[in-house]
Amino acid sequence: MATLNHLSRRHFLKSAGVATLAGAAGSLHAQPADVADSSRHALLADGKFDFDKVYNRVGSNCSRWDSPARRYPEGVFKYGMGVASMDFECAPCITEALQERIQHHSWGYLSTTDPLRESIVKWAGERHGIDLDTRELTLSDGVYPGLVAALRAFAQHGKVLLTTPVYSGFYTIARRAQVQTVDSQMQYVNGRYEIDWEDLEAKMTPDVRAMIVCNPQNPTGNVWSEDDLLRMGKLCLDHNIVVLSDEIHCDVIRSGYTYTPFASLPDAAVVNNSLTFTAISKTFNLAGMKNAHYYSRNPTLLQRVNQFHAAELSTLGVVATEAAYNHGGEWADQCVAYVDECHTLIENHIKEHMPIVGYTRNEGTYMTFLDFSRVMKAINAKEQAVVHGKETPEHYFQDWLVHQSGVYLNPGSDYGAGGEGHMRMNTASSRLVLKEVLDAIASAVNKV
Ligand SMILES: Cc1ncc(COP(=O)(O)O)c(C=O)c1O
Repeated sequence: MATLNHLSRRHFLKSAGVATLAGAAGSLHAQPADVADSSRHALLADGKFDFDKVYNRVGSNCSRWDSPARRYPEGVFKYGMGVASMDFECAPCITEALQERIQHHSWGYLSTTDPLRESIVKWAGERHGIDLDTRELTLSDGVYPGLVAALRAFAQHGKVLLTTPVYSGFYTIARRAQVQTVDSQMQYVNGRYEIDWEDLEAKMTPDVRAMIVCNPQNPTGNVWSEDDLLRMGKLCLDHNIVVLSDEIHCDVIRSGYTYTPFASLPDAAVVNNSLTFTAISKTFNLAGMKNAHYYSRNPTLLQRVNQFHAAELSTLGVVATEAAYNHGGEWADQCVAYVDECHTLIENHIKEHMPIVGYTRNEGTYMTFLDFSRVMKAINAKEQAVVHGKETPEHYFQDWLVHQSGVYLNPGSDYGAGGEGHMRMNTASSRLVLKEVLDAIASAVNKV
């Protein structure tokens, strides 16, 4: 089997871990390269960035690959396809900006974040047609701390409403803010997740004070239409519920779909009842740089959240984020197009080689939510979870799959009601890696 097993911790430290495609057979071989060289390699002669290049992250203390490696005996875990970070080498404009800044060897307090704010406003205007004012923005060290502050401001000792399956972090955020979650499970209609409007409204009881809208929705991949967002917004307004719109995945939209910023909706009352939380960190894989922001057209709502929020940004995080916003457009376009192809590759592979797995076509994000319920049934995951003391059948299946195929996925049960029988898979990897991963999963699930 072509292998990424070469990509050991030692290799990373010695070589910056660049692996390249070698030979027509498409096998992968780790090859030594300099860190400095790696940004040059990313641009191919025709002006295209090389997303097929396998960039070794093993041993770089990255949670996607290094966290599962710590959980399993040596040699069992092979492919980190969970955590929502991308495997691609960083956009060269970011590496170059960081390289330039580290030529100056002093790291005291920052003087201003104005250029960063301006770069955010420019990106939002040019790419998403939304007119922001730098004064409407609060910078944050993540979407997560912004949402915690918002739940403290609006829903403490009350409840927050979620349409599920949804990003597992929302449950952690709610716990941190001491807010209870209420799940409104989406319906699965003709191969697509849809909001159950009757259920959603029924769940809007007086103790529900906030609703987190996930647009696009992680992990189901919905890119919500203007009509859907308006309908959610109006229901929230009618029931005195503040909308917290998490738009961190907004740049990763598949062709044929359009992202609608909640703040651009054509109803001022709905918009004024909302805040938006977003970042460029998913688009450029900058989560470790700890940079995000939130905004609202309503200064009163913004002020209320700001009272519970405190964040200090780091110099390198600001440099990287500003470079992405100002110079990363072309890289982002190519990356999103590549991810689109990755989704198609996964869809075709599953349909052709593992019909036992259910596939839902994503509209956005680089995650995909796969239905393994038939496999779980075949291996008695429910009973086995009890025998092995696992939290849910999906957690048992996670271990089973790692042992059978080396592939690590996220258990669907972590994503709220409706996640049963499912596993979340990351699609943002070189297609060479994806093919290995899919082959490995297929040979495991086709045996049951
Ligand atoms: C929908 C969603 N919101 C927020 C986050 C976390 O954002 P941050 O790293 O900026 O706190 C994630 C990370 O995967 C996410 O998928």
